[in-house]
Amino acid sequence: MTAVLQFLPTDSQFLLSPFSWLAKMRREAAVFYDTEHQCWMVFRYDDVARVLSEWKTFSSKVPQPPEQKDLTESLVSTDPPKHKSLRSIVQKVFTENRVEALAPRITELTHKLLEQMKQHKQVDLVHTFAIPLPIIVIAEILGIPFQDREDFKRWSDGIIARDQTAIKDMADYFRQLLNERRSHQGNDLISDLITAYEGGEKLTAQELVDFCMILLVAGNETTTNLITNSIWSLHEHPDENQRLRNDLSLLPTAIEEVLRYHSPITYLQRYTQVETKIGDQIIPQGQLVRAWISSANHDELKFENGDRFIIDREPNKHLAFGNGIHFCLGAPLARLEAKIALRALLEEFPNLRVDSKLPLKPIPTLLVHGLESLSVLLEE
Ligand code: HEM
Repeated sequence: MTAVLQFLPTDSQFLLSPFSWLAKMRREAAVFYDTEHQCWMVFRYDDVARVLSEWKTFSSKVPQPPEQKDLTESLVSTDPPKHKSLRSIVQKVFTENRVEALAPRITELTHKLLEQMKQHKQVDLVHTFAIPLPIIVIAEILGIPFQDREDFKRWSDGIIARDQTAIKDMADYFRQLLNERRSHQGNDLISDLITAYEGGEKLTAQELVDFCMILLVAGNETTTNLITNSIWSLHEHPDENQRLRNDLSLLPTAIEEVLRYHSPITYLQRYTQVETKIGDQIIPQGQLVRAWISSANHDELKFENGDRFIIDREPNKHLAFGNGIHFCLGAPLARLEAKIALRALLEEFPNLRVDSKLPLKPIPTLLVHGLESLSVLLEE
């Protein structure tokens, strides 16, 4: 059995294409205890959907090693009733209308980045476009002054890398910015969060800082990977690429298919509150459970031809944004950014193609799924 379960998390080929291994797991070991990682691995769609949504059994308060205790009190790592009160406050200001209203500004920012790319015949799409766009957009939403944007980018990278100094600097920065906004309200998310009430409750100063930080952690690298993975998927599937280029109205379903096929988040973890059973396995209380989103999204019991990339797949109830009470708050923003970014890329660079002479380099971790760089040719 263990021979079947062994894999090399840093093996490039595996990180680029884990699909046959995941299919094998769904068939032969859909729920098993992995002694190396000391957690239960769960691979089938129905089981993953349940683990993510059944919060009374599977808590989001996952014990963290001391060096990672920084964001344990934030929205994403709490259960009801705390989660419910936090979420209803932030939901009030992070609305679909607010996101929709950003479309013209996101389009403008996108075109600025594309103008810079036009000076070159070949660029690394990840660093010239897919990384800066979500960071600039979130900085705008939060109302980060223009002169602070360089620091802001450095700190957001640091937060993702769990660099303690960057986390502290960013938290100090947000504390200061919140103080300024308390005395001078602006037309931005931070100002609205300061005044947002729910059932007579406001966010505390610490909760405000935590929320700003979690937006960066949850929103930036994931959206970067959605944009990169879209161009990667189209490169891997030339017929679907051509179909999309002939009819850009297919973009919304194509983006959903990228989210399913190359899900930016590979797995999420939960912690059992009580003894429970998944499949034929009894899982005791107090156990770590790893729910494999990337496997659930290829499960052939849920998706016909799950390993095929089909840009107009419908229905497509993938779990890339999670399931249940923690369903991604930023999903409308991520979808909007991806739609604007990809339309602009495909229209402005009709001959854009991946340089297939260079090997694809995956991000060297299992937790997220994307590419470290993606060299693209912009001309014929
Ligand atoms: C393609 C891009 C994105 C993907 C794949 C993604 C994925 C996810 C997933 C899977 C969760 C559920 C976490 C859990 O159940 O433990 C989540 C939660 C969350 N996401 Fe996203 N996300 C993306 C973009 C964004 C953006 C752009 C933002 C905001 C700027 C954002 C903010 C959040 C927040 C605040 C939560 C926590 C919600 C809660 O716990 O109630 N995400 N995201």
